Amino acid sequence: VNWTAEEKQLIIGLWAKVNVAECGAEALARLLIVYPWTQRFFASFGNLSSPTAIIGNPMVRAHGKKVLTSFGEAVKNLDSIKKCFAQLSKLHCDKLHVDPENFRLLGDILIIVLAANYGKEFTPACQAAWQKMVRVVAHALAHEYH
Ligand code: HEM
Repeated sequence: VNWTAEEKQLIIGLWAKVNVAECGAEALARLLIVYPWTQRFFASFGNLSSPTAIIGNPMVRAHGKKVLTSFGEAVKNLDSIKKCFAQLSKLHCDKLHVDPENFRLLGDILIIVLAANYGKEFTPACQAAWQKMVRVVAHALAHEYH
């Protein structure tokens, strides 16, 4: 992908404000609530029986933070996202058997979480840059699938 200087600025600038632990927890919880079939990948996480249970589940919170921290590596390496996520792509394919469609779903959820938490800064131009960002990340995570 090619990023304009403005897109890079919008992505890096918003990311600097993001609370990774909170937004990561919220994004994963929302994924599990809005698309309940994604719960099957997290059977070992304990109680996912209701939205309240999911939001309060410490394993969901911890894993959400881990996922968004990992997403942050892409923000730091905008020009080499594919390379950055090659190993993770292999892991999600070979070991975890996660359908790549779920990367797109999580990306859309992340946009909603950013809009909900940073509405003022999340201008249409910022959204456009982030829409591109989540698409590129989903593409990179799907790249090593076979
Ligand atoms: C594990 C990143 C999306 C399912 C992980 C790990 C990372 C990660 C860093 C830990 C790997 C390790 O332990 O070495 C990401 C990123 C995503 C993403 C950056 C997208 C932005 C998803 C989605 C699903 C998923 C959409 C399923 C709906 C899993 C599962 C594990 C995992 C089941 C193992 C959890 C465990 O038992 O500890 N992911 N992930 N991931 N991911 Fe993802």
